[in-house]
Amino acid sequence: MANGQTLEAAQGGADRINSVTTYACIESVAVITIDSPPVNALSGDVRRGLLAGFRRAHEDPTAQAVVLACAGRTFIAGADIREFDAPDTDAPGLHAVLDAIEACPKPTVAAIHGTALGGGLETALCCHFRVALPEAKLGLPEVALGLLPGAGGTQRLPRIVGAEAALEMMALGKPVTATKGQAMGLVDALIEGDLLAGAIAFAQDAARSGTAAVRVRDRTGGLALPHDAHVFDEFRRANARAFRGYEAPENIVRAVEAAVTLPFADGMKREAELFAELFASRQSAALRYLFFAERQTARVPDLPAATPIRPIATVGVIGAGTMGSGIAMNFLNAGLPVTLVEREEPALERGLAAIRRNYEVSQAKGKLTAQALEERMALLRPSLDMADLAQADLVIEAVFERMDLKQEIFARLDQVARPGAILATNTSFLDVDAIAAATCRPADVIGLHFFSPANVMRLLEVVRGGATAPDVIATAMSLARTIRKVPVLSRVCDGFIANRMMTPRMNAAQALILEGPMPWEVDRALVDYGFAMGPFAMLDLVGLDVIGWDAATSNSSSITQVLCEIGRWGQKREGGFYDYDAARRATPSPVTEGVVRDFQSRSGHQARTFVPQAIVERLLFPVVNEGARILEEGIALRASDIDVALVMGYGWPPFTGGPMFWADGIGLQRIVDALEAMGETPSELLRRLAREGGALSTCTGQA
Ligand code: 3HC
Ligand code: NAI
Repeated sequence: MANGQTLEAAQGGADRINSVTTYACIESVAVITIDSPPVNALSGDVRRGLLAGFRRAHEDPTAQAVVLACAGRTFIAGADIREFDAPDTDAPGLHAVLDAIEACPKPTVAAIHGTALGGGLETALCCHFRVALPEAKLGLPEVALGLLPGAGGTQRLPRIVGAEAALEMMALGKPVTATKGQAMGLVDALIEGDLLAGAIAFAQDAARSGTAAVRVRDRTGGLALPHDAHVFDEFRRANARAFRGYEAPENIVRAVEAAVTLPFADGMKREAELFAELFASRQSAALRYLFFAERQTARVPDLPAATPIRPIATVGVIGAGTMGSGIAMNFLNAGLPVTLVEREEPALERGLAAIRRNYEVSQAKGKLTAQALEERMALLRPSLDMADLAQADLVIEAVFERMDLKQEIFARLDQVARPGAILATNTSFLDVDAIAAATCRPADVIGLHFFSPANVMRLLEVVRGGATAPDVIATAMSLARTIRKVPVLSRVCDGFIANRMMTPRMNAAQALILEGPMPWEVDRALVDYGFAMGPFAMLDLVGLDVIGWDAATSNSSSITQVLCEIGRWGQKREGGFYDYDAARRATPSPVTEGVVRDFQSRSGHQARTFVPQAIVERLLFPVVNEGARILEEGIALRASDIDVALVMGYGWPPFTGGPMFWADGIGLQRIVDALEAMGETPSELLRRLAREGGALSTCTGQA
């Protein structure tokens, strides 16, 4: 309960307005309290309660001022996103409710704890004043849902904080703490301790002052801050990279332009038009879908809610290479001690240095204090002896990707780990069941597949083996939240969900360059689709030599082999598919072009031109097909998990919703026809859905 004793007392003696709203008059202040778990979103009932509450406060002769407060973990966290696709049309609209709040002639105060987000902050902006606990957060994150603040936020916020700060908060979706909000003028007072008591005292002072409180719509302080037309172009330019492919940021910029150039009422009209455009867009539907998809992944239908969780207080990591050191950081960041085991001193030293360097970078950016850095490093216990893992509750293996080595490590772990410890492998492709078979306790073995860089990427694939115990799965899913990852559950197959999904893309890219397009044309089409880089630039980054090339057996039978044979291993050699300058800027390589042309002519294909869309379809329709197979085989729990995995693990552009959601928008019959034309076999699931007019993104795993 973040809102203190006064709130409990107020609710105790209050009148109930409806199922989610109470009204009390305390020391001449009307207190309207919303209590609609989990996040007090502006559902139809909340809107009804707000309207009735403010009307009553207006008419209540004993009330000199009004406080709007929330029970539970947060102030109003926004419009009810679930209602977007199923609106409660009987309830008053949000604009009507906010108009009524803003029209209240008595001083009105929003008492903010937790997060005042989106429509929640817009509601608070219709009060005369905002007071908050210092750690509360205020933000307009609608951009993350492909929207703009559509309840006056784009017009009211700049009137307080100015165009530039408003653009930052809305187009980048960055919330501010109440402490920062106070410096910006957004928060009128910080309250330490009992928020409601402080808010009531603030409201009483406002009522006593005798001066009429000014509505935000009538304020001009922010608009008077220095800005000109260049501010908007400069903002667009500075964020062009982050905004690439997204529609909402541009509409937000236009709405703020309207705020500074038009009278309030006209600005509101402009906001409504710009909001309506976004609301109807496929992008917003995609981003809203992902919002819920991300929150659904942790639900595992065959795990009863009462499945116990094994306590994890100490962690072991084996292998301090690229992945092991990143994995260890996740637990150090969460305050859990980690024993990091290597086979030899130099590798251990390298791993420790990498961890420290990473923290130092965060410190240099002001994200970590020197003290926090040392505290985290102090939680790290380096070791060259697996026996030091005897007390760990969870051990994650991240050694080389070799089955014999992993089995050896697990056999040894079986001897040293305490009974009940969870034994996890970070393997990318290997059979988790075969690894588990090296132990006498396969029920305790699971895959925890992190993505690189492991301390940054938010996806965690949890791979359940055939024998993995339910409580081990439940613990892994819950642990993901502790280390701020999004878990996606997979069954065992080659590459699990994300890596398996992306394999057809790479195969299609390699095949396509034999038919005409150059690697850079293929990459460009995928970058224009929304990926940060195309498959060939990715290969150059990873290194062509480390993706299965063996100098001893190389026989010039593929383009990659030839490039490796002539020393073009990628960025590390200043040349791979592309040439690189000293600053690692890529340019198309004439040498690669020669190699590709040679293979093209030998392959018997008549080289032809592919428009970008054809390239995208050729590479990504097979990915969709693989996703359908993953569902047929029951590898993934649901299609939306696949989308979350690809968006978070492989940078699939979020505004498409991921491959499954994107496919629904294209039309499944079109994809089936195109796959057949490419010589691919569409999965049975895809064919059936296409025939029946069904949707892929709502499917669940079937095996
Ligand atoms: N509407 C409906 N449900 C919501 C919601 C919303 N705005 N925000 C959160 N929820 C639901 C979640 O789906 C989840 O439901 P579940 O338990 O059934 O899965 C539950 O509330 C808890 O959410 P989280 O798991 O995300 O809880 P956290 O404590 O981690 O985070 C939060 C809380 C910071 C509020 C986070 O949920 C969040 O960022 N919510 C979205 C906020 C937002 O985008 N607001 C703007 C909405 S659009 C809008 O207001 C338009 C307006 O301008 C007109
Ligand atoms: P890496 O080569 O960077 O690190 C492996 C480390 O394991 C080395 O430091 C090595 O000294 C150590 N090691 C080897 N044998 C050991 C032993 N017997 N005891 C203790 N330590 C030992 O490899 P990387 O990239 O970290 O990969 C590790 C695992 O993670 C592999 O299974 C890989 O497939 C998987 N993975 C890799 C990803 C990546 O992008 N690099 C992504 C996801 C998973």
